[in-house]
Amino acid sequence: MPIKILMVCLGNICRSPLAEGILASKLPANTFIVTSAGTGSWHVGHSPDKRSIDIAKKNKLDISNQKGRHFTKNDFAEFDYIYVMDQSNYKDVLALSHNTEESNKVQMILNELFPNENVDVPDPYYGSANGFEMVYKMLDDACTIIANKLIEKHI
Ligand code: 4NP
Repeated sequence: MPIKILMVCLGNICRSPLAEGILASKLPANTFIVTSAGTGSWHVGHSPDKRSIDIAKKNKLDISNQKGRHFTKNDFAEFDYIYVMDQSNYKDVLALSHNTEESNKVQMILNELFPNENVDVPDPYYGSANGFEMVYKMLDDACTIIANKLIEKHI
């Protein structure tokens, strides 16, 4: 059975599609499945934001085929690891959990870089392209650590 990892943000068009593409690129696809979802449902079925597609492409990743999906309580059973982008996502996801086995699967992604500090990946949606560069860098650094840990644990 592959290990399944879910990246979660609010809209599932800016941050979590990038996190999905970046982490997937650092893991062997035969052992790990990485996908993403949003706590909001506005963008279900939509492609990622063009600015996320562009910054990914600049870094040689193609995320253009991803489609937005909505986080549901069934995802706790489906996934082994759930990474959220900010404290608001964390609260919204935990509110749907049934027990500590489920809530323990949920981590703030930047706690991989800054343990226990609960730093948010800022939402770049209303900002400039520069915000996407910054988000990409943060996610790339966090995903390098996550990939190393997952490979060490599961391979
Ligand atoms: P994301 O950014 O959570 O990083 O995908 C957002 C995208 C869209 C909206 C909010 C956040 N929205 O309200 O439509």
